[in-house]
Amino acid sequence: MSTADDQKRAAGEAAAALVENGMAVGLGTGSTAAWFVKALAARKLDIVGVPTSVATAELAASLGIRLGELGPITSLDLTVDGADEIGPALALIKGGGAALLREKLVWEASKRCIVIADAEKRVPMLGKFPLPIEVVAFGHETTALRICDALAECDLGVAPRLRIKDGVPVKTDGGNLIYDAACGRIEDPALLADALKSVTGVVDHGLFLDLADMALVGTPEGVVTIEP
Ligand code: A5P
Repeated sequence: MSTADDQKRAAGEAAAALVENGMAVGLGTGSTAAWFVKALAARKLDIVGVPTSVATAELAASLGIRLGELGPITSLDLTVDGADEIGPALALIKGGGAALLREKLVWEASKRCIVIADAEKRVPMLGKFPLPIEVVAFGHETTALRICDALAECDLGVAPRLRIKDGVPVKTDGGNLIYDAACGRIEDPALLADALKSVTGVVDHGLFLDLADMALVGTPEGVVTIEP
């Protein structure tokens, strides 16, 4: 019987095998993406990695991966990243590690995106994992009230909760705050995505829709490939 960590590692290694010399590669954030970064470094390819967080940048640099930045690099060949939930059509919830904004920027600049995960992350409907929403710190309590209204418009009667760690609000690498909305069931992810993006003060949210080209999911039987 494989553990979740075995499955994450197997998925990360399978994704690293798909990287080719000369690529610009988006490096995701989280424990699964860390397995990918380690397996990629072990291949000693001539690539440039574009990290989605300070934590991933530090890990990749410590393993000898050459790093570049989104901006000077405008188009990436491939991004590999984890997810908190993988739903139908490879709709995702991401942001459990608070890196959702940089992740989405890197994903959207990539020609191909592969999500890697353990089997537990696959769900028939998104929403059990609380949806992360990144907001600017200025006036965030007011923004949270307007997020409530946006959730209600989507028939989700939940109040988002400010993410706290060690007694203080979690700050993203960009200096923003994270609210988590325990939606339960997200029947219409596209409707919710639009409603949240329309709230002033919301920088972005953890719904990644129509972005993943493929999933590599570790299971007790091995890594399975899923396409939308
Ligand atoms: C980081 O903000 C997230 O999007 C992660 O990719 C996600 O939380 C998955 O993390 P794990 O691979 O650690 O489960």
